Amino acid sequence: MQPPSLAAVVLAAGLGKRFRSQVPKVLHQAAGHPLVYYVMKALRSVDGLDKTIVVVGPRADQVTKAVRDVAPVAVFVDQREQLGTAHAVLCCRPHLEDFEGDVIVLPGDTPLLTSRSVERLVDEHRRSGADATLLTTELADPTGYGRIVRRPDGSFEKIIEEADADEDQRTIREVSTGVWCFRARPLFRALGQVGRDNVQGEYYLPDAAWYLAAEGGMMYTVEADDPREVMGVNDRGQLAEAAREIRIRVIEKLSASGVTFEDPATTYIDEGVEIGSDTVIRPSTYLEGGTKIGSGCSIGPVTRIVESAVGDRSEVTFSVVRESAIGSDCSIGPYANIRPGTQLADGAKAGAFVEIKASRVGEGSKVPHLSYVGDADIGANVNLGAGTITANYDCETEVKSKTVVGDDACIGSDTILIAPVEVGRGGVTAAGAVVTKDVGEEEVVAGVPATVKRKRKPRGKNK
Ligand code: UD1
Ligand code: CA
Repeated sequence: MQPPSLAAVVLAAGLGKRFRSQVPKVLHQAAGHPLVYYVMKALRSVDGLDKTIVVVGPRADQVTKAVRDVAPVAVFVDQREQLGTAHAVLCCRPHLEDFEGDVIVLPGDTPLLTSRSVERLVDEHRRSGADATLLTTELADPTGYGRIVRRPDGSFEKIIEEADADEDQRTIREVSTGVWCFRARPLFRALGQVGRDNVQGEYYLPDAAWYLAAEGGMMYTVEADDPREVMGVNDRGQLAEAAREIRIRVIEKLSASGVTFEDPATTYIDEGVEIGSDTVIRPSTYLEGGTKIGSGCSIGPVTRIVESAVGDRSEVTFSVVRESAIGSDCSIGPYANIRPGTQLADGAKAGAFVEIKASRVGEGSKVPHLSYVGDADIGANVNLGAGTITANYDCETEVKSKTVVGDDACIGSDTILIAPVEVGRGGVTAAGAVVTKDVGEEEVVAGVPATVKRKRKPRGKNK
């Protein structure tokens, strides 16, 4: 026998009025991803899901892009006017016309929902043979949610929305999570009957359940395991709450895999960041985007790393690193600003008050203090003395130029390298040199502008 088919409809067209935002609600970010990302991710691992439809509205292109990033095969349906959740589902009818199976319907603003809960809902729905099954929960503070009104015998009667509820009904703590599983046929039959005679003038999806039950259909409810999981994000306060919950989950998972967090409460790790075992994350650290940290590192305190890779055993302290690749056994900070396009090879160092941009620093090379390195290619085992500056920008021509420093070069303190310029392998600049012309291999230059003084003394003794 064929397994029964299963579709999902994600409601993501709402305006998010309570956000007071130009950005659609489901695109607001929590722990590095838009809210809708989390819903799509939970759905992605639901067993047996054949088809996912996402209802989009204002700024549909942005929502579509965010969804495609995580669910490339999702189908999009445009809801031109936001007339309510029932109307949103009705917009999907052309895609589910001949569909005989079950349809999960869920809001795009429930980022904490897990695939396990959705699967449980579907299982219970199928086990009970219901026409509609709703995930419910009991909340200490049910404000904002649709309340479940039950008959004296405990059976489901209807859902009353907050706006339409009287004082008594508002005291009901059992609420709808907005996560449903319907048999497709009865769903679309009932949707056709839903009107908009309510305080908000909207077509309410919960009313479909009322029609279904009123016509003798079977309505079933399943209580969620964890009320936190079904929290809907309707305003920015709830966004912050949801983000905090996601971060807790992220840290719990990484801790279990062998990462130490000295102070989870002040540590902000985006969902999807990878960290190797025995790395210690110190307080007030932010790891964002697709950042990957190796094993045995020490990161923080007070450090922000965005979209970057860090190898094993590296140390980053009181620093910012963005869109860069840091090797193993590197040392960064305190107070370094590593800007996009930087590569530090294994064993390299960027020390106090150093800024590096779009540059490569070779293996074992050191930029220990007070330097600016931009658009530079620094070889291996180079030392840039304190205060070394690459003057990479000509403000008259508005052209940026490259600085190249060969392996084993030694750049004296306070050297200014006026790009484009190259220092050959083993070249030396004296302290205070302003280098305007290329320096040859093993040449020693000094002065302003720097001129060649002699060949470098044989090395080895001090190495
Ligand atoms: C909804 C439910 C409520 C439930 C709560 C759970 C209705 C009428 N109310 O209320 O019973 O307790 O969720 O979180 O269903 N949307 C559209 N098109 C529309 C309207 C909404 O796509 O025309 C989307 C929104 O983007 C959102 C979801 O549907 O993702 C729910 O809408 P929202 O306005 O947040 O409903 P709630 O008031 O939270
Ligand atoms: Ca909501």
